Amino acid sequence: MRDELFFRDEEPAEQCRGALNRRPFRIGHALAGHPLLSLDALAAQAEAGSKRKDGFYFDAGDLAFTDKWGAKPTPNLTVAQIFDQIETVGAWIVLHHLEADPRYKALQDEFGEFFRKSIADPDDAKLLSNPDFQVFISSPRRKTPYHFDEETNFLMQIQGSKTIWICDPLDRDATTEDEIERFYAGQVLTAGNFKPHAEATARRFDLSPGEGVHIPMHAGHWVQNHDAVSVSIALDFEYPRWKYANVYQANYYLRKAGLSPRPPGRSRLFDRPKSAAISGLRAVKNLVRC
Ligand SMILES: [Fe+2]
Repeated sequence: MRDELFFRDEEPAEQCRGALNRRPFRIGHALAGHPLLSLDALAAQAEAGSKRKDGFYFDAGDLAFTDKWGAKPTPNLTVAQIFDQIETVGAWIVLHHLEADPRYKALQDEFGEFFRKSIADPDDAKLLSNPDFQVFISSPRRKTPYHFDEETNFLMQIQGSKTIWICDPLDRDATTEDEIERFYAGQVLTAGNFKPHAEATARRFDLSPGEGVHIPMHAGHWVQNHDAVSVSIALDFEYPRWKYANVYQANYYLRKAGLSPRPPGRSRLFDRPKSAAISGLRAVKNLVRC
């Protein structure tokens, strides 16, 4: 599998390493046509995933980039009906935890190893954990609203084509400190807001089978599917909570108290006690639950 993945000439591996989580960059792959990623194979995985906790997500509708998740009611359809109507139902399907099937687990492990060794520098690689392999299946012309994620993401196009706009992850006019703090405080589905100026400053990537893109953590992004059913796969990695999540969570409470907290990464002197405080609070909560 490792030999099937490759970088494009215009994005040499050394440049990608330096750009990880700092800017999006293109990647290439040779997974289009892989038998595990055909619509029939994925329909079977969707059926299995719908019987597991968090294995299958589906919504449908004519969403705008400015909408929030869950803004439209989801039609009551079986998995088989969704796939039967995939051309017209306006679906956005996410398959999670495919590692339940050892064949997909092997694919995930190969991906994880490849990206850790080929893209991340050794220091970053030590921090990347919990590779999570997801499949996105969407109907023709379906939009994915603006949002940002906490994971380091690699999105690869398998079938159909789409356009994704990705903001500079460090542009705090696109994704504000306040939004990131609210995200880590639990407002995961609603924290990010599409800004009118975002389209002018975001980078646009048109993805066809064989093409992919790195989406840095905290980079606002939104997607327009083209005229055919789209299948994409994503590999996410997590950073340890002490590095960003705990500090942002602490900053959420500090901002609520009327302060203007310092963002993570500016001062280890300030970051450490904030992270320790949140870890301590979490430990106490867990003790109370026992
Ligand atoms: Fe995303």
